[in-house]
Amino acid sequence: MKAVLCHAFGLPDTLTVAEVASPHPAPGEVKIAVRACGVNFPDVLLVQGLYQMKPPFPFSPGLEVAGDVLAVGADVTHFKPGDRVIGIVNYGGMAQEVVVPQSMTLPLPEAMPYEHGAAFPIAYGTSHVALEYRARLQPGETLLVLGAAGGVGLTAVEIGKRLGATVIAAASTPAKLALAQQYGADHVIQYGVEDLRERVQAITGGAFADVIYDPVGGDLFDQALRCIAWEGRYLVIGFAAGRIPELPVNRVLLKNSALLGTFWGAYAQHRPQVMAESLQTLLSWYAAGRLKPHLHATFPLERAADALKALLHRQAMGKVVILP
Ligand SMILES: NC(=O)c1ccc[n+]([C@@H]2O[C@H](COP(=O)([O-])OP(=O)(O)OC[C@H]3O[C@@H](n4cnc5c(N)ncnc54)[C@H](OP(=O)(O)O)[C@@H]3O)[C@@H](O)[C@H]2O)c1
Repeated sequence: MKAVLCHAFGLPDTLTVAEVASPHPAPGEVKIAVRACGVNFPDVLLVQGLYQMKPPFPFSPGLEVAGDVLAVGADVTHFKPGDRVIGIVNYGGMAQEVVVPQSMTLPLPEAMPYEHGAAFPIAYGTSHVALEYRARLQPGETLLVLGAAGGVGLTAVEIGKRLGATVIAAASTPAKLALAQQYGADHVIQYGVEDLRERVQAITGGAFADVIYDPVGGDLFDQALRCIAWEGRYLVIGFAAGRIPELPVNRVLLKNSALLGTFWGAYAQHRPQVMAESLQTLLSWYAAGRLKPHLHATFPLERAADALKALLHRQAMGKVVILP
């Protein structure tokens, strides 16, 4: 089977595609023929050696897949060959085959195409757990989403609306803001052009944002922190801008606010029930036509580097998916 391989940390162009041995499912594992693999910013960090996890070389990036079960290891009771599934892995998804623990495999609903299945768990899961479980976003509250047309950002706009919030989408270009509006954003702010604090102040009549969803970090964090409402909740999701910001904690005290980290993948280890329930809720919303994954582009396995570069160069809107 073919796989995208990272032989040494570097930019996406250093990745190769090669024939490798087909993996065998160990007890408790499901072997999947990958039909689609979602691309996430953590893949961009992983291949450059900038992610918290550093797999042994050579490895394949790719954290979420959709495909068909090829074989199952001993003790696998929930899946059988031929089943359509979604799988979540630490890495290895950008390949024609991958093995996934049964606990991280879920049925792919009949009406869901592989491309949607592979674009689904990480982006929607992160935003749902962050907004509902961590920030306890309430109907009528104001949600400010940064990077609002990115993979996780667009799902935060969509889920924020589902939860009944007034959503302010902030992003770098008019095209990105137009997409966020299509996904329900009530107000938009083009940062880099408009003053974030002034606009949030004007939109909210001086009350500012109850919940802020931040997958960008860097200088934008410093600006966004000044946009939080009294008793507001600031969700730290990621640092796509590169710099991990530092916080003058007096700001948290003065606004009676809270800073809430959300590392979605860690729920698998610490509170798997939360992850499982969240994914069931999200899949039921999808089945009811209430969530619509936005695909920016699909790429064949041979063009995995171009897929990663779309994220690295800030071009992707919604999700990028590889079709092995
Ligand atoms: N906490 C979790 O569990 C979790 C899960 C998944 C992802 N993440 C993190 O969330 C962040 C976004 O991930 P994603 O997969 O949604 O990525 P993405 O689709 O590439 O979105 C990132 C967004 O960040 C903005 N951005 C600002 N400066 C950037 C820069 N220098 N390079 C690239 N993008 C920049 C871009 O929007 P504008 O151009 O509009 O600014 C872009 O749309 C990453 O930091 C990722 O590690 C966290």
